[in-house]
Amino acid sequence: MEKIKETLDYINSKTNNLKPDVAIILGSGLGCFCDDLDGIKIKYSEIPYFGESSVVGHKGELLFCEIEGKNAVIMQGRFHFYEGNSLAVATYPIKIFKKLGVKTLFITNAAGATHKGLEVGDIMLICDHINFMGTNPLIGKNDDSLGERFPDMSNCYTKSLQELAKNCAQELNIDLKEGVYLATTGPSYETAAEVRAFRLLGADVVGMSSVPEAIVSNYLKMDTVAFSSVTNHATGVSDKKLAHSEVVEIGKTTSLKLSALIKSMIKKLDF
Ligand code: HPA
Repeated sequence: MEKIKETLDYINSKTNNLKPDVAIILGSGLGCFCDDLDGIKIKYSEIPYFGESSVVGHKGELLFCEIEGKNAVIMQGRFHFYEGNSLAVATYPIKIFKKLGVKTLFITNAAGATHKGLEVGDIMLICDHINFMGTNPLIGKNDDSLGERFPDMSNCYTKSLQELAKNCAQELNIDLKEGVYLATTGPSYETAAEVRAFRLLGADVVGMSSVPEAIVSNYLKMDTVAFSSVTNHATGVSDKKLAHSEVVEIGKTTSLKLSALIKSMIKKLDF
């Protein structure tokens, strides 16, 4: 708890105790979300107990700003397990958001589609997930003041926010897909056999993040909504070799659509 207090004190000293209502985690290539936003920026490297974000396409800073009349905090880049961060470190910002007063968390990521029903450039609303990381961010002694030991997962992705996302997408003429996200640890991409197996298990897309964040957000009883930007067909679904640079480039083009969608949802949140 002392650690959390130190982190909060540092952030509050920079933001003048600003209380964000919403938090947004931006995935690979989705940084353009912030292009027309201005506010208070804090580099992760300055913040006590924040992890390290070393991935190309991830800026590594928090932006406190106003979006559609609501106070928001945006994570420009996240902490991945494959970077060597523990899941406790990877999900530490979610605990900080909760303490700052955030009620709604938007999670975004880049992901590979396990079938051709999804196209490159699509945005997929995550309706549920499969945790294939072989670990869980809640392992360890439970702090009962934060959440339950055995959290229910049936509304991990808040149903009312899923409805809101679908309504906003319709209004904006965005063809919003829906499906299941499967998380691996990475950093190697999947083999073709793994992708076939994941498809059989019920995964529509595969990626290397987001699930730990959603588990902790649900544990802390924050409303949670998550989107995948489909940056590629996963290994074996198409013949193309995977390159992170392409993932980032495609992420940038879908970023405009996703940004419009998230902003229109924020406008309609009633708090
Ligand atoms: N696999 C895993 N993670 C990813 C992919 C993929 O195909 N594309 C973007 N992130």
